[in-house]
Formats: sequence, C-alpha cells, structure tokens
Amino acid sequence: MLQDQQYLRIPGPTPIPPSVERAMAKPMVGHRASVTDDLLKKIQPGLRKVFGTDQDVLIVAGSGTAGLEAAAVNTVRRGEEAIVIVSGSFGARFEKICLAHGIIVHRYETEWGEAFEPEVVRGMLEEHPGVKAVFSTYCETSTGVVNPVAELARVVREVSDALIIADGVSIIGGVEAKMDEWGLDVLVTGSQKAMMLPPGLMFAAVSDRAWNVIEANPDRGFYLDLVQYRDSIRENTTPFTPAVSLLYGLDQALTLLEEEGIAEVAARHELMRDMIRAAFRAHGIPLLTSDEAGSPTVTAVRPDDFDAEGFRSLIHREFGLAVASGQGKLEGKIFRVGHMGYCSPGDVLQMIALFELGIARAGKQIETGKGVAAAQRVYLQKGEQTK
Ligand SMILES: Cc1ncc(COP(=O)(O)O)c(C=O)c1O
Repeated sequence: MLQDQQYLRIPGPTPIPPSVERAMAKPMVGHRASVTDDLLKKIQPGLRKVFGTDQDVLIVAGSGTAGLEAAAVNTVRRGEEAIVIVSGSFGARFEKICLAHGIIVHRYETEWGEAFEPEVVRGMLEEHPGVKAVFSTYCETSTGVVNPVAELARVVREVSDALIIADGVSIIGGVEAKMDEWGLDVLVTGSQKAMMLPPGLMFAAVSDRAWNVIEANPDRGFYLDLVQYRDSIRENTTPFTPAVSLLYGLDQALTLLEEEGIAEVAARHELMRDMIRAAFRAHGIPLLTSDEAGSPTVTAVRPDDFDAEGFRSLIHREFGLAVASGQGKLEGKIFRVGHMGYCSPGDVLQMIALFELGIARAGKQIETGKGVAAAQRVYLQKGEQTK
C-alpha cells in the first residue's frame, strides 16, 4: 500500500475537493475586515439554496453537536416538554442534550435500522399536548436511515404548535432539502460531511415561528445563543471570531454545488446509494435498512457470514480504505460506508472492487466482480432514465 494514499469512506469527515483545499490555503485576514464581511455576504445565497430556505443560515464555529445543542437550548426551556425521536445513536444524543438542559423528554425509539413513523408522533402529541418541540434526525448516520422529516413536519403541524427540529448533519448538501416548503423550524448541519469541508463549522436555519419562540426565551445560553448569530449575519458578520479559512473553503464548496446543480448533486447521491446497495445485494450480503429507508449518503451493511470488524481492519490495512464501525447497540455487527460530498460513481466502483477483495480475504466465498457488475448495471440503467 502507498504510505500516504487513503480512501476515506466513513460517513464523515469526508474527502475535500482540491479546489476547496486551495481556497482554504489563502492568507489569513482580519475577522472584522471588510474582506470577511464580503465573504459572509457572498456565502449566504448559496447556503440558503442548500437548506431550501429564505431564512439566513447561521454559521457557527463548532461541530455538528453544537447545532444539536443550539437547537435544544434556544427553543425549549428547562422544565418544558419535548418529544425526542431516537432512531439511532444521534437521536440518542439529542435526548442526552435535552436531559442535560432539564428538558422533560418523551422518547420514541424505533427499531435501529428502521425509519420513524410520523403517525406515532401524532399519537404522542395527542397524549402530551404540552410538548414544545419534536427533535428528529434527518439521516441517522449510525444506521444509514433517511427519516421522513417532511412528513413529520406535516403531521406535527396538523395537531400541535410544537416546533419541528431536524438534525441534518449527515445529509444536507447531499439532498435537495426544502426546509421552508416542508415546514421544518430548525435545521442544522455540520461542515465535514456532504458539505465537502473539514470539521469545524455548524450551520443552522430557523423558521419565523421558531424565532418567535427563541426571542421569548430568556435562557438561551451565551455562545450558542442563535439570536446573536442572526443579528450579526444581518450585518454580514459573526458575534465571535469565525473560522475564517473554513469560510473560504465554504465559498468554494458552495460554488461547486452551484455549478453541478443541487438537483444533480442529489441525483448523484441517490445513484451512488443504489450502486452500493446493488453490489452488496448481488453477493447476498444483508443491508441494515430497507431500500425505502436507505440514505443517499451512508449505507450500513450487516454481514452474516464474515466479521464486520475484521473486514474493516483488513481493507484499511491492505488498501487504505476506511469505512466506519457500528455504534451503540450495533457495535461489531455492521460496518458503515460513507458516500457523500466529494464522492463520485467512479469512486463507488473502486470501493466496491476493493470491498470484494476484502470480503474474499475475510474468508467468504464470493465471485469477485459480481458486485461491480451489478453497480455498473445500476449506473447504466439510471443513465438511460436521465437521458
Ligand atoms: C446525524 C449526526 N448528528 C450529529 C453528529 C455530531 O456531529 P459532530 O461529531 O460534528 O459533533 C453527527 C456526526 O457524525 C451525525 O452524523
């Protein structure tokens, strides 16, 4: 294996496009200099498109979890009630955050690997009419499930004034999100996944009705007080020192998304998901989720006749190919493949070919090339449909 060659196919952080890397290498500038104000102003329209919102998209120096905490602490007060949907370990994180802030949690846990059902939330809201917010995970990275957040928002709004909060950390930038149209109240993401940037930025957008709730909340904390970020971004600045180099990178990443087109980016992610699923299916290797629930950005594979962890370390050792392990109750049982951001169908074919070698080496009798051929067929069929 070449010493510094690696294929980073975990569900974040993800590889960085060379033009984004170059943009981040620009000399440092003052964070209150007009050049930074201009950069923040230039970035806004692109970010709004990615979120599918007319609202300002707030930019915070922090990881994705800062977004989860900001969503909780700004919208729900200590002693108030919330529904937290736990469809995997990131939903569980939302619960921990709510509990840490004294929020009363009504928990709805799905089978891990299955999407949540909005109708269950309807029932819970009828039972607990005091609920102020429903916390959901758009893509549950620990299981590779894409949850029906648009449908959730529709159902919640039918029966309650509770705010709908969505963690979009591992999917925004890889789908055509329509925050305003769907009726999401707070949508957050991080930089290091489908946004094609290094870790270090959190983005959050907030609906008008959520702003009303947030403004009336006297206890929003300090660093993650979203009102400060909103008031600053209206002046093309940030309340605290922004991660300036990452902003340069963000500007370029948004240019790339714009040039490819958000609909095309989303179609590429769906195609990559379908190729990967077809490849494992061709070998009879079980996937954790159904096709309907399969995320366009991350796929969880649950092998039943070879060891997931042994396979992971083998492909890393032999080919420098990194995929992620299972988390929480799925630890040791699955491996997770990230196919988001700076990832193409060509990359997918390469990783499938390497997976096949790894699976053969892990001791399973397989016909190498069968998965690659299945993925190629998906590529050709999809190409036919889009002609
Ligand atoms: C869905 C989801 N939410 C939250 C997070 C936490 O983000 P971070 O590790 O950047 O704090 C992650 C990270 O993998 C995630 O996938």
